[in-house]
Amino acid sequence: MSHLSTKHLIGIKDLTKDDIELVLQTAKTFKEVINRPIKKVPTLRDTTVANLFFENSTRTRTSFELAAKRLSADTINFTYSSSSVKKGETLLDTVNNILAMKVDLVVMRHPSPGAHSFLSKNIKANIINAGDGTHEHPTQALLDAFSMQEKVGDLKGKNILIIGDIMFSRVARSDIFCLKKLGANVKLCGPPTLIPNYIEELGVTVEYDIQKALEWCDIANVLRIQLERQSIKLFPSLREYSLYYGVNKKRLDKIKRPIIIMHPGPINRGVELTSDVADSEHSIILEQVENGVAVRMACMYLLAGKS
Ligand code: CP
Repeated sequence: MSHLSTKHLIGIKDLTKDDIELVLQTAKTFKEVINRPIKKVPTLRDTTVANLFFENSTRTRTSFELAAKRLSADTINFTYSSSSVKKGETLLDTVNNILAMKVDLVVMRHPSPGAHSFLSKNIKANIINAGDGTHEHPTQALLDAFSMQEKVGDLKGKNILIIGDIMFSRVARSDIFCLKKLGANVKLCGPPTLIPNYIEELGVTVEYDIQKALEWCDIANVLRIQLERQSIKLFPSLREYSLYYGVNKKRLDKIKRPIIIMHPGPINRGVELTSDVADSEHSIILEQVENGVAVRMACMYLLAGKS
């Protein structure tokens, strides 16, 4: 297969297994490109990409911009805090005004789940979701799967643990959809208040004892506690969270075999993950960031100009 089944990348839920495999395969080629002395290809020379970020971002925003540049696309960067949205302009008006400047591809992060789906029904350009509230973060899941495959090969039958704030995590949702479609076994671990009811219906299992969960897995993906999304306190204190659910060297030393540690970033050091683990040889956190550029190049390449 050489084409995606969709013209927008809004969620992993909408992708087929073939779509995911095509992105991951294409990203392999682009990873080779960005490791050459000349890191650029002319593939999207006639394409203009608008990066619209209505929420803060370090990794996703910079890697989309770099990915577009590596593909020779022109880029426009929009930041909410300095835009006319502050004066009351609607999302649709904002995007249509940007599209009037002949933009082909929209990369957007927005705090409202469903903002991308709404836009996709109202504009002509192709859309890539760079994170919508607590809903999905599809390119993070694709780069996570790519990084996992680099370490352990085919994910079918591999044991992948996702630890932490599952309730408010768009990364968790996208990772679950992606990993299940690739045939991995997925287990979740975290305080009961941060594990959504009926989550097992997505084909995952839940373990509340972090030591047992770590012993089970080949790879542990540790998530940030998203205090900014919690309107009420869902656990007593960060200190207590760290005590019961933090991944630290003491816990990992009890396991007989090494496991791979991942984190989508940004890390709350000393809360969900201690520095001696985040910076250890078992951590692939910066490799995830590196792979983000290749994976986003693949997504833009496969979606640009798709009608
Ligand atoms: N992983 C991730 O989405 O990081 P940013 O919020 O910095 O983009």
